[in-house]
Amino acid sequence: MVKAISLTVFTSCIFCSVFCEPVIYKDCSGEAGGGLSILKEVDITPCSPQPCILKRGSEDTIKVTFLPKVNITAAKSIVSGRIGLAPFFLPFPLDNPDVCKDHGIKCPMIAGKQYTFKTVLPILRAYPPDQVLVKWEMHTSDQANKVVFCWMVPVRIE
Ligand SMILES: *[C@@H]1O[C@H](CO)[C@@H](O)[C@H](O)[C@H]1NC(C)=O
Repeated sequence: MVKAISLTVFTSCIFCSVFCEPVIYKDCSGEAGGGLSILKEVDITPCSPQPCILKRGSEDTIKVTFLPKVNITAAKSIVSGRIGLAPFFLPFPLDNPDVCKDHGIKCPMIAGKQYTFKTVLPILRAYPPDQVLVKWEMHTSDQANKVVFCWMVPVRIE
C-alpha cells in the first residue's frame, strides 16, 4: 500500500515542474455519484510536509489535472471544509467560482483532453488555526449540476 502510494507520487513528480507538489488525496467523486472526469493529480504548493501546513497570511497554489469523460460547457468550483472534529462541512466562499474564467481552462472542455485547473488561494488570518479536511469539487453549471471531480485533502492551518 505504502509502496503503491509512493510510486504514484513518484510518477506524478516526473510530470511536474520544480515547484509542483502532488499530494495524496481521497477521491470523493464516488460519494457524489461518480465524476464526469478522471482525476489525474492534485498539487498544492507549498505543501510540505504532508499533511499540508497552510500558513495564515500566505498563499497556496492549487492545481488539479483531470480528463473529462464528456464535453463540459461550463463548470464551477464548490469548496468546503470540515474543521477539527466537526461532524459537518462548512462552505468556503470563493472569489471566482467560475471554472471557465481565469483558471487556465478554455470552455467548452472536450472529452478525452487533459485539463489543469489552477487557482491561488489566500490563507486568511481569520481562518482558525486547526486541522481542516478540505473538500474541493467541480460541478457542471448547466448539465444537471453533475460532479466533474471531487477530492479531499487534510491540511493544518497555522
Ligand atoms: C465534443 O466536442 C467535440 C468538439 O466540439 C465534438 O467533435 C464532439 O462530437 C463532442 N462530443 C460529444 C459526445 O458531444
